[in-house]
Amino acid sequence: MEVCLWVLALSVLTLPQGQALGKVEHIMDQVVFCQTQSPKGEYTQNYDDEEMFHVDLEKQESVFRLADFTKYTSFDAQGALGIMSTCYYNLKILMESWNISAGENVAPEVMVYPEDPVLLGEPNTLICLMNKFFPPVINVTWLKNGKRVVEGVGETDFYPVRDQTFRKFHYLTFVPDVKDEYACSVEHYGLDNSPLVKLWNAEVPSPPSEMTQTVACALGMAVGIIGIIVGTILIIKGMKHNRQHRRGIN
Ligand SMILES: *[C@@H]1O[C@H](CO)[C@@H](O)[C@H](O)[C@H]1NC(C)=O
Ligand SMILES: *[C@@H]1O[C@H](CO)[C@@H](O)[C@H](O)[C@H]1NC(C)=O
Repeated sequence: MEVCLWVLALSVLTLPQGQALGKVEHIMDQVVFCQTQSPKGEYTQNYDDEEMFHVDLEKQESVFRLADFTKYTSFDAQGALGIMSTCYYNLKILMESWNISAGENVAPEVMVYPEDPVLLGEPNTLICLMNKFFPPVINVTWLKNGKRVVEGVGETDFYPVRDQTFRKFHYLTFVPDVKDEYACSVEHYGLDNSPLVKLWNAEVPSPPSEMTQTVACALGMAVGIIGIIVGTILIIKGMKHNRQHRRGIN
């Protein structure tokens, strides 16, 4: 599949703070990209690989990942909008002057796992992690027993991975039940036209008797081994005692 896609300036501004033994202790980066496909672009700032905020380019406002961050910092979305319009402008110029094809498609690695240990009947969140893919254009659908789910879903932005690929998370709140089968279905240009579907089921909890049996078996063996050792010692002592006793008589 030929994809007309241009990703410009995955600019990473790094501000190492404090250095010990030549190692970067903390890092703040800013990720900017724009492209001809949806999403058209993204602006995020991250601290130590955690998103601090992104700018919602449609609503034109900063969206902090954790409310707590707003206590320490704020960001005027207009600054990001200026950077984005420069990105779109440069992208257009580059497309007109350099007729080079888009970078190679790299398919995502996909994993589905629960946020918390699964307890049947206890609300939990399923996480679908798409890792190391390029370009940042992806369709993700949650399925429950084969049917599309749109309630209780959420997602993150595209996060940069060090090798110029991206990572993204999608979420689904759910109540685990052994009868339900969940799936995260992912479409990406790196996957040959068919979605990659990762299934997830809540497992039937293993009966506690299995654990109890194992413990009982181990304890039984330990007692048995101690018994054999103590028994052997007693027998040897008894034999020695007998011999001495017999010598005493002779
Ligand atoms: C871009 O290059 C391709 C061949 O690599 C060519 O077929 C195409 O016409 C070029 N497009 C423009 C706008 O120059
Ligand atoms: C995502 O879905 C849209 C609409 O069905 C489709 O046009 C587009 O090609 C899909 N994108 C990918 C990466 O498969």
